[in-house]
Amino acid sequence: VILTQDELKKIAAYKAVEFVESGMVLGLGTGSTAKHAVDRIGELLRQGKLTNIIGIPTSKKTQEQAISLGIPLSDLDSHPTIDMAIDGADEVDPHLNLVKGRGGSLLREKMVEGACKKFVCIVDESKLVKYLGGSGLAMPVEVVPFCWKFTAKKLQNLFRDSGCVAKLRNDCKGEPFVTDNGNYIVDLYLKKDIGDLQVASDAILRIAGVVEHGMFLAMATTVIVAAGNGFFFFWH
Ligand code: A5P
Repeated sequence: VILTQDELKKIAAYKAVEFVESGMVLGLGTGSTAKHAVDRIGELLRQGKLTNIIGIPTSKKTQEQAISLGIPLSDLDSHPTIDMAIDGADEVDPHLNLVKGRGGSLLREKMVEGACKKFVCIVDESKLVKYLGGSGLAMPVEVVPFCWKFTAKKLQNLFRDSGCVAKLRNDCKGEPFVTDNGNYIVDLYLKKDIGDLQVASDAILRIAGVVEHGMFLAMATTVIVAAGNGFFFFWH
């Protein structure tokens, strides 16, 4: 059998949910992979196999999904310590650094996942890269709308040695994509490795118009990878 990418996402998601225990405060991720995990948590709650779960959603979309499934919700103000989060990623490097935010939810994801004792990242094998940016897809940065062109230019200049092209993300109507926090996303396209990720992260965050970026460095405690043959493996 050849499994579809969505079936692989589901395998990784269901495996992660096996680590969920009753009574946990859980960070609920965003995206097509995390959606399977949230569905599964809802199902186990309905069946009474899990009880006393409190979900902390990482986006408005996940919040709506969780509400529709009857998962009790709270937020970081009331629950500043989270037992575990389950979320997808766009890229995973060999050191378990991630790129997230192609769905646009990077800021809330980073706030919630930064407050977790365990962050289980769930991906299919297509997300594995040698270095961040290596998929050739976007490295997202959330910026304030005010003079976003100025900020985008600064970001592009920062990584010009890596052949960086910075583009404002648009929605399906061709309007600027607006995040849950009312901000824009500048996507960075890189041709080469940007080198020391911590240095890159610090440099991005020093630009005044930047709110947050999609590199999640040393945050994932486990990555569950579902591979084409239906097997999964762990990276710690
Ligand atoms: C949302 O902003 C993202 O960080 C997602 O977690 C990430 O894009 C993974 O999404 P998929 O599971 O849909 O690939």
